[in-house]
Amino acid sequence: MRRIAVLTSGGDAPGMNAAIRAVVRTGVANRLEVFGVKNGYEGLINGIFNPLGTRDVGGILQRGGTILGSARCPEFKTEVGQLKALRQLNSNGMEGLVVIGGNGSQTGNYALHRLGFPVAGIASTIDNDLIGSDTTIGVDTALNIALEAIDRLKTTASSHQRAFLIEVMGRNCGYLALMAGIAGGAEYVVLPEVETDPEKIAETLSSAYERGKSHAIIVVAEGAKYNATALDAYFTEHRERLGFDLRVTIIGHVQRGGVPSAVDRIMGSRLGAAAVEQLVKGNYGVLVGEVKGDIAVTPLEEVIDHPKPLDQAYLALAKTLD
Ligand code: ADP
Ligand code: F6P
Repeated sequence: MRRIAVLTSGGDAPGMNAAIRAVVRTGVANRLEVFGVKNGYEGLINGIFNPLGTRDVGGILQRGGTILGSARCPEFKTEVGQLKALRQLNSNGMEGLVVIGGNGSQTGNYALHRLGFPVAGIASTIDNDLIGSDTTIGVDTALNIALEAIDRLKTTASSHQRAFLIEVMGRNCGYLALMAGIAGGAEYVVLPEVETDPEKIAETLSSAYERGKSHAIIVVAEGAKYNATALDAYFTEHRERLGFDLRVTIIGHVQRGGVPSAVDRIMGSRLGAAAVEQLVKGNYGVLVGEVKGDIAVTPLEEVIDHPKPLDQAYLALAKTLD
């Protein structure tokens, strides 16, 4: 193997730059030429490959986002798009590809693997929705940003004896909401994986005040059936009967921005190096992640289409500590 490409795809995640840097520097250490692909699969289809040397990735470790750019690329979901990308990889002399991204991105990566191209994936998304890695690059930073918001909202909630509803990201996976709920001391967490009855939330909020609490915090994942918008509408419609003064905050993309934490920089560095090592070894079609603190290498076919189950022990903990 002499020449590899690297791309970032899907939602950006703090720590992706650490992974790019590690891919480039580990590649160079293994005498490979490394090329960065602009804007994920879009750049691959259009054949936008830029050479990256060790100095090109200097000073990016501490930067959020991705220096390569990212994109959602519907065309790559089609066979025609995938074949265009494959032609570009081959005609530009690429012999390996590293895809840094979440579940959708790794599904695309698996499609290239099935077409016979040597690939490796790096688990990177704030959603933490990938089997094969206990957490993914970006989760730690996003969680800390969500927590800072919750801590701030708690202060004002206490002053006014109000209930606050905070929506965090998480399309299909409630990991961020659950962990933010536990670490932020929420009274209730609403997750895509768990059926929720708004009346049950109302009861919990009432009992919080009855138990002498001066505030009540509900953390909601955006992908839950009753997300912030749906719950806001429900509580507004039933306001008189339920008697709550509810305030809603959607943290949104703020969670994906900013400086990556130490955990995400280290994880990005470690997984970036490990992904190149897999390509050099000839172990293709795998996702590189971390399980129980160790590097874990899992075939992509075991990763995609397998939703990551919610850890029931954490759910039980959130309920006990509310
Ligand atoms: P993430 O990787 O963060 O989960 P997305 O789900 O948006 O983000 O996926 C990112 C990109 O990966 C998509 O825009 C598309 O180009 C590619 N992708 C997603 N799903 C598939 C699929 N089923 N087949 C091929 N490519 C896919
Ligand atoms: O995939 C990561 C994620 O941040 C999800 O949590 C969220 O649903 C989605 O991306 C938002 O996508 P976009 O940045 O395209 O609005």
